[in-house]
This record gives sequence, C-alpha cells and structure tokens, in this order.
Amino acid sequence: MRLFIKILVIIVIVTFIILQFFQPEKNISTDTNGHIFNQEQIPENVKTIFKNACMDCHSNNTNYLWYHKVVPVAWMVNQHIVDGKDELNFSEWGEMDGYDKIVAIEDIRQEIERKTMPLKSYTLMHWDAKLSDEERAAVFAWLDKKGDELVNAQTE
Ligand code: HEC
Repeated sequence: MRLFIKILVIIVIVTFIILQFFQPEKNISTDTNGHIFNQEQIPENVKTIFKNACMDCHSNNTNYLWYHKVVPVAWMVNQHIVDGKDELNFSEWGEMDGYDKIVAIEDIRQEIERKTMPLKSYTLMHWDAKLSDEERAAVFAWLDKKGDELVNAQTE
C-alpha cells in the first residue's frame, strides 16, 4: 500500500512537471498604436482604473503574475484573455468605426454598472481591480462624455 501511494505521488508530480511544457502563447504585443490610451484623451484616474481592472483580459498586453505561468492556472487565464478579447479589445480601439465604439461604450458602462466586470475570479486576486462607487462614477463620467461625442459625430 505504501509503495502504491509513493508511485501515485511520483506520477502526479511527473505529470505536473510535463504539463508545464504546454504553455499557452503569451498575450504580449509591442504594437500599441491602436490602443485606446493612444487614441483618446482619457483622465489619468480613469486610465488607471481601466489599466488595473480591465486591460489584462481586454487588450493585447497582459501583466502576468508568477503563478499565471503555472499550468493549469495558465490555461484558465489564457481562456479569459481569449474570450475577453473576443468581446472587447482595447488594443484595437483605433481600428473600430464610430458605431462600434458607441456600442462598446454602452457595453462597458453596462458591465461596470451591473458589477459583472471585472470578473469576480479576477478581483479575488487583484484587489486594486475592485471598483469603488467613486471609481465607477469617474469611469461613467468619461464614458458618457465620450459616448455623446461619438453620437454627435455620427449625426453631423
Ligand atoms: C479576468 C479577465 C477579465 C477582466 C479583468 C475583465 N473582463 Fe470583461 N470579459 C471577460 C470575459 C472572459 C468576457 C466574455 C465572457 C463574459 O461575458 O463573461 C468579458 C466580456 C466583457 C464585455 C462584453 C460583455 C457582453 O456580454 O456584451 C465587456 C463590455 C467587458 N467584458 C468589459 C470589461 C471591463 C470594462 C472591464 C474592467 C472594468 C473588464 N471587462 C474586466 C474577462 C475579463
């Protein structure tokens, strides 16, 4: 019995080590031309909120912490990034047309208002991503201003 447990533990450890070689591709890019921060005038405090609470999953640059590189956490994190970017990619803001931006602004506002974004699993580990009422208000103020600008530009 003791031998069986020893063998089992060794198998688990070896499997864990082998799995580490199956790393998903890192979400890191040097092309930041189209990034919303380079496209729009955004107040610094709102930028910080987007950076701390959204960019890891909704841009082409994730700030990885050490354990994000450990499989299977690495796979889970990667899935969030792939699915998140599929819905909204702040790095591609420059390639979106006015109408897409209006829809995105609405979606972002709604997700923050409903507190469905940032994801709970994320704020659990990233405390600075938890938004206070003041932070939400600051984001809404910018979103509403930008939204109006975009709508006006469409109807001109
Ligand atoms: C841990 C990763 C992660 C973080 C952080 C995150 N998101 Fe998301 N987001 C996702 C994923 C995954 C989806 C797609 C699946 C879903 O809707 O749950 C998504 C979907 C969305 C959508 C589309 C929702 C829809 O159904 O139309 C919007 C808008 C959005 N996120 C905005 C934000 C904003 C704004 C922030 C920051 C305040 C943020 N997200 C932070 C992972 C994340």
